[in-house]
Amino acid sequence: MLIIFLLITIALLALATTTWLILNLTSDLISSHHGAPFVPLSREVGRKMMELAGVSSQDIVYDLGCGDGRLLITAVKNFGVQKALGYEISPWPYLKAKMSTRKFKHNITILNKDLFKSDLKNATVVVLYLTKNLLEKLKPKLKQELPPGARIITARYPIPGWKVSKKDTSTQHPLFLYQN
Ligand SMILES: C[S@@+](CC[C@H](N)C(=O)[O-])C[C@H]1O[C@@H](n2cnc3c(N)ncnc32)[C@H](O)[C@@H]1O
Repeated sequence: MLIIFLLITIALLALATTTWLILNLTSDLISSHHGAPFVPLSREVGRKMMELAGVSSQDIVYDLGCGDGRLLITAVKNFGVQKALGYEISPWPYLKAKMSTRKFKHNITILNKDLFKSDLKNATVVVLYLTKNLLEKLKPKLKQELPPGARIITARYPIPGWKVSKKDTSTQHPLFLYQN
């Protein structure tokens, strides 16, 4: 009886580990295929991004490629934002984001969708931690859809060719602010 129990436990553990590995590997492949791997920013950088954009409770904050949703949590928890929305294409970070934001489900929405299919007309602040290539591709969409006065904050890479309104180099990654 004990042996059967042990065998079942080992089989279940093996199944869970394999599922987790497959999910992780698939997610890495999907993220890389879309041009930006899942590399989360530190809480400190997240806070600096919100500070640089002057985020307040009046803002609607979007994170395009939101990873595990940490920037949205910072916006809601530390800056009083009532409405925040994240787009994430990869299953593993998406699931993590759904889990980590469940306490804020009235304020934060996470969508398992391509960021190029997002609708930005209600965003007042867009936070981006993406590659130069993706930022370049995103330019026409940001120009067309964002309302006047919206702010864009990028971490690590500037938006190629755009005039930076403010820059912060006090943390691990340089941060760039743009005003629409
Ligand atoms: C560098 S991580 C940034 C995560 C998060 N914003 C942060 O700063 O902690 C970039 C994320 O963008 C996601 N991503 C890449 N291309 C995407 C696309 N086309 N649509 C939605 N998400 C995408 C990746 O899966 C990855 O999780």
